[in-house]
Amino acid sequence: MANTILIGMQWGDEGKGKIIDVLTARADIVVRSQGGNNAGHTVIYRGVKYVLHLIPSGILRRGKICVIGNGVVIDPVALVGEIDGLRKLGVKIDKNLLVSDCAHLVLPYHRILDEQRELRRGRIGTTKRGIGPAYGDKAARTGLRMSDLTQPIVFSKKLQAKVIENNRILQALGARPISFREVNETYLAAGKKLRSFVTNTVVYLHRAIERDKEILFEGAQGTFLDIDHGTYPYVTSSNTTAGGACTGTGVPPHRMDRVVGVMKAYSTRVGEGALPTEDDELTQTLHNLGREFGATTGRKRRCGWFDAVATRYARMINGIDEIAITNLDGLDHVDPIRVCVAYRLNGKPVDVPPCDASQLANCEPIYKQVRGWNTPTHSARKFSQLPPAARKYVRYISELTGAKLSMVSVGPARGEIIVL
Ligand code: GDP
Ligand code: IMO
Ligand code: MG
Repeated sequence: MANTILIGMQWGDEGKGKIIDVLTARADIVVRSQGGNNAGHTVIYRGVKYVLHLIPSGILRRGKICVIGNGVVIDPVALVGEIDGLRKLGVKIDKNLLVSDCAHLVLPYHRILDEQRELRRGRIGTTKRGIGPAYGDKAARTGLRMSDLTQPIVFSKKLQAKVIENNRILQALGARPISFREVNETYLAAGKKLRSFVTNTVVYLHRAIERDKEILFEGAQGTFLDIDHGTYPYVTSSNTTAGGACTGTGVPPHRMDRVVGVMKAYSTRVGEGALPTEDDELTQTLHNLGREFGATTGRKRRCGWFDAVATRYARMINGIDEIAITNLDGLDHVDPIRVCVAYRLNGKPVDVPPCDASQLANCEPIYKQVRGWNTPTHSARKFSQLPPAARKYVRYISELTGAKLSMVSVGPARGEIIVL
């Protein structure tokens, strides 16, 4: 039995979907524990591109069970749309998907509130999927859950009260009020389609563990978007770090066997907030290659050099045992390559990211420069097939991060991977 937590070690979009797809070959069950359809996990298989938002990335492999845990916030209409879209692509979805009855719902007023807040100064640059307001209601203990949605009378009653409350807020913000009747109808219709998937996933997972099944916990977003440990307030509203896998599924810490961290060979971020190693030239180079456009919103990702201050901290918070480095091929023709080994703040070296957003924004990276390899790496399938300078680079950034290197990804497709 080996239960594995997979975590993004940077600002999201590290290539988690790709690595989950590789690791799912050995797992029995893949579970999402936090976030919602703000996530966009890309898997490319047999030339077809799948972008998963709420459904775990294990769904593309037959015989695997996918679970959406209690910690996820679910937009039921979006989930039905995702299921229908995948079915059209030939993906089988019936008894292989389970949805927690305790997962909270994202409702239209959450999305509108998210959009309204984004119009103001101090915007976060959210995905506008209503994630923050939905988790806000959960913490305020006024949220609606999947279990409500499967009981139409209960749902309608609770929804009516919430629509009255939220319409007052929307009006005060100058936004159009929403119609209880419309939302009620749309959501109950979605609820009907989802009903057969809804169950107590905590009990399901515990029974699976008793039967020695292997579980893969698919992190969404990344360490520096964590509500507690990220670059607050420019974060998402859930615990994206390893602890979130326990609270978001009801599986206790002593049942977790290893934590795999995914990091890009460079850094990217989408939305507002500091990215200490941001570099306009590198951003342009990667965009010119058609890379680093958001999988959920299509926004251009900001790009920067590899930041070892960040990944070291991520290794510590998450207890990363092994690292998967992705997008090594993005640096194939970049020479020289810079690596941030520390920050300088007010003239003094700093080796952990400060918690305060303005201090982080004032951190200047201290770089070490290394040689590029100026050779395509796509076709390498063994570590020894990588150019010497590329081998040196991945070893260097793994050592700076402080965990064992276990995988190097050299392209988006399933087979474009080196397993060490
Ligand atoms: P996730 O949110 O962490 O799953 O990452 P995204 O799917 O949002 O973004 C990662 C992007 O990089 C996607 O377009 C992937 O197809 C792509 N990708 C993943 N690994 C590699 C790699 O090693 N090389 C290349 N070229 N693309 C990769
Ligand atoms: P995956 O799982 C990258 C970012 C948004 C914004 C902040 C808050 O694909 O790695 P939210 O909509 O969650 O309230 O937005 O978090 N963000 C992500 N960035 N990858 C993601 O998911 C993200 N999910 C949210 O851009 O900065
Ligand atoms: Mg993504």
